[in-house]
Formats: sequence, structure tokens, C-alpha cells
Amino acid sequence: MVRLTSTISGINSNAPVVFITGGARRVGAETARVFHTAGFRVVIHYRSSERDANELVSQLNHTRPNSAACVQSPLDTRDHVQSAALAAIEAFGQVDVLINNASSFFPTPWGEITDEAINTLMHSNLLLPMVMIQALAPELKRREGAIINLVDIHALRPLANHPAYGAAKAGLISLTKSAALDLAPQVRANAIAPGAILLPEHEGDEYEQELTRSIPLARMGSPTDIAEAALFLATAPYISGQILPVDGGRTLKQ
Ligand SMILES: NC(=O)c1ccc[n+]([C@@H]2O[C@H](COP(=O)([O-])OP(=O)(O)OC[C@H]3O[C@@H](n4cnc5c(N)ncnc54)[C@H](OP(=O)(O)O)[C@@H]3O)[C@@H](O)[C@H]2O)c1
Repeated sequence: MVRLTSTISGINSNAPVVFITGGARRVGAETARVFHTAGFRVVIHYRSSERDANELVSQLNHTRPNSAACVQSPLDTRDHVQSAALAAIEAFGQVDVLINNASSFFPTPWGEITDEAINTLMHSNLLLPMVMIQALAPELKRREGAIINLVDIHALRPLANHPAYGAAKAGLISLTKSAALDLAPQVRANAIAPGAILLPEHEGDEYEQELTRSIPLARMGSPTDIAEAALFLATAPYISGQILPVDGGRTLKQ
């Protein structure tokens, strides 16, 4: 069971450990900071963002010595995923919470859907979390831990011209529920469905203003909104198999 009581006092060796895929930047990095502030030890996976990962780990270790580590992997084969899972366990001798955050996101308009695009989107958003859950399931069972998958409100209602991404995230919702059923009672599995949080880096202000008009709470979400929801799900002892939209009410609008 993921408990934080022993960590508030700052006794690092008892602190639960969270492993975050794609955790060097953006939402993943903020999730690492929020869990760390709550008392977790943090293992950050990165693929290519080496400098961001190293800076984040050294900031966290500066705040609390020996409380953060990172694992580099392309995670593109089953062997890579297995080795990254083992490296995550070895960092502190345990993993209590797995956050499947790594993702790719781009449009695949009908008529232009290539095998390469399908493979990239399905791999990062569905196959990788599935193989990672399988690799870490024994450890998460041993620790009575939790899984949190980052899905998307567009897994619940489609985003125009993104059929492959939406289908992959919809598959991840199904996978979340399967993990919750099959790995119980030791492991809980839930998902967060973010609305508009951080736009892809090439999108401009105009698109952000247009999006904001469609959000009842009249603002984009922040990475902290997602990270705090993840922390809640990681430590909520009787919630499993649920998909939590964190979208400022956006799914209420047509
Ligand atoms: N941002 C939003 O508004 C939003 C909205 C809805 C849902 N979400 C979901 O929330 C999560 C976080 O969002 P984000 O925008 O912060 O994510 P992101 O920046 O798009 O991706 C996070 C990291 O994933 C890693 N990654 C991508 N493809 C990978 C692969 N094939 N293998 C291994 N790592 C890979 C990259 O790591 P490196 O940089 O190290 O290469 C990247 O920095 C994602 O699951 C996303 O789908 C986000």
C-alpha cells in the first residue's frame, strides 16, 4: 500500500518510489516535482531529454539527498522496456507507483495514415505502457503499489484528424481497467484524462485562445493540475479502474 506517513519526517529510506516514463520535461517533470515534494523518491525515465533529466534529478537531490535518479532508454523493444524496469527498481530497491506518461501526439488525417505513424502512436501510447506494466507487475504486487496511465479526454470523444492517437489512448483506457481487474487486490490501476494542458511546442497563442473559449473554467490546465490528480490517485486506497478527466469541465461542452 502506498503510504506517505513515514516520509513526511524526511526519512528517505522508507519513502515510496514513483517511476515516471517520459518524465524529464513538461507534465512528467512537474509530476516528478509534486511527488517529490509529497515525500516520494523519484525515478525519471527519459529517452532523448538528457540535459532536462539530469538538471531535474540534481535539483531534487539538492533539496533532499539521494531522493531522485534517472534511467535513459529508447523503450523501443521489449528488452529495452524490461531493462528500464529493472534499472528503475535497482535505483532505490523498489518501485511503488508506475506512471505511464511518455507519449507521442500528432495528427493522422484519413487518407494520410501511414504504417510508420500508426506504429509510433500505438507504440508510445499503448504498447509501451502494456509491456511496462507487465515488466513491473511483480514488483508492484510485492509493494502493493499503483499504476497511473496518462490518457486523454480525446480517448473518450475524438479529436478531429487524430484517429490513430485517439484509438491508442482509448486502448490505454481498456488496458487500465484490465490491469485494475487482473492485478488486484495487490495493485490499483487508474488513468487521468487531461484536457488542454500544454500545447505541442509548435502551436501558437491563437489556438490557445480558441481552446480556452471551449473550457468552462476558462483557462488551460497546468501540469500541476495533472500532477496533483496523479498524487491523489497514487495514494487513494479504495479507487481502482477509474478514468479521471482533469479538463476544466471541457467534456461538458459540445
Ligand atoms: N499536454 C497536454 O495538454 C495533454 C493533453 C492530453 C493528454 N496528455 C497526456 O499527458 C501525458 C504528458 O503530456 P506531455 O504533453 O507532457 O507529453 P509529451 O511532452 O508529448 O511527451 C512526454 C515525453 O514522452 C517521451 N516519449 C515520447 N515518445 C516516446 C517513446 N516512443 N519512447 C519513450 N519515450 C517517449 C519523450 O521523452 P524525451 O523528451 O526524453 O525523448 C517526451 O518528452 C502524455 O501521455 C499525453 O498524451 C497531455
